[in-house]
Amino acid sequence: MINFHQSYLSKNEVKYLSQVVEQPQKSGNGPFYEKCSTLVKQQFNFESTIFTNSATDALELAAILINIQPGDEVIIPSYTFVSTANAFLLRGAKIVFCDSGATHPNMCVQSLKSLITPKTKAVIPVHYGGKPAPMTEIMGLSEIHQFYVIEDAAQCIGSQYPNTQKMVGSQGHISCFSFHDTKNIHCGEGGMLVINHSPFKERALILRDKGTNRAQFLAGQIDKYTWVDLGSSYLPSEYQMAVLLSQLEELENVTEKRKQLWSIYHAKLGEKTAFLTPQEPWNAHNYYLVYPSLQKRNEAIDIFKDHNIQTAFHYQPLHLSPFGKQFSNNFNLPNAEKFGNGLLRLPLYPQLSEEQVNYIAEIAKTTL
Ligand SMILES: Cc1ncc(COP(=O)(O)O)c(C=O)c1O
Repeated sequence: MINFHQSYLSKNEVKYLSQVVEQPQKSGNGPFYEKCSTLVKQQFNFESTIFTNSATDALELAAILINIQPGDEVIIPSYTFVSTANAFLLRGAKIVFCDSGATHPNMCVQSLKSLITPKTKAVIPVHYGGKPAPMTEIMGLSEIHQFYVIEDAAQCIGSQYPNTQKMVGSQGHISCFSFHDTKNIHCGEGGMLVINHSPFKERALILRDKGTNRAQFLAGQIDKYTWVDLGSSYLPSEYQMAVLLSQLEELENVTEKRKQLWSIYHAKLGEKTAFLTPQEPWNAHNYYLVYPSLQKRNEAIDIFKDHNIQTAFHYQPLHLSPFGKQFSNNFNLPNAEKFGNGLLRLPLYPQLSEEQVNYIAEIAKTTL
């Protein structure tokens, strides 16, 4: 069986983990946290980053940082993971579902424009499969209508915005990355908050440290720390940071290898324009086909299975989920439903050989 996914194992993980076993500090903010921060700064040049235990953590932190109050409206694509909604719902926001574009699951700007009201507090573009959402338009709307933009960049580590040298995650007021083991690089469970709006920087550390000013204490700025704000426990342990450091060190190679395999799929399947695929690999987080109906997709899954290939569909649009249905603003989101019914992801990870990818692509052709 060719599995749909295999998490990446990097060279130095065991070595770094045994160093954590030896070092006195196992809890967060130790030497491996520092090393990850320094490396990420070199790799991405983000203004300010905070590591967390997940992208879900980072999204929750973002929701507190922008002071979501009951009744504030937050616009998210319906075609996304539940955390994009939960983080804001937990703070009392009204979630407003936006449709996907016709040719890609990312937010449709026209749909977004029709949903903005004076109560819109934030818009959460999701960069599906590593492909950036239309950020220039979204940031332009944010200036006109004065809402925050929180990028859900869970799948995007290593992607760049089109026609710029800028890394995805550097445009929104805040961005949230995932290092869950389904992502290009990982530390089992992990995440990162990127703060591009400087007034949020100091408070973000307080929220992360259970609502205390512990970071200021550790920096020698105050002589004891105390409870000053809301907060939770979002700080990852040194064990997670040890694995993440090793994975970050190999990010470039991992991305390159994924892009090579992505290109094999695309050379064989990209011409099938009825089955939409993105035209660029971005960070090659996934490769997918879009079948014209749920039935066609089910038939394709069976064909792959008969050839020992495991595939995976993705999100059920949230406006149709049992929980989302209760408060959905809109049951007419045709593009989100098209991707919900038709999108199927093929195996894509560095451990696959070119022969295996060629084989999967040949079988894929027979399903189209
Ligand atoms: C778009 C999106 N947002 C958020 C998350 C949550 O990430 P995590 O598992 O790190 O909390 C995921 C998980 O896959 C995701 O796909």
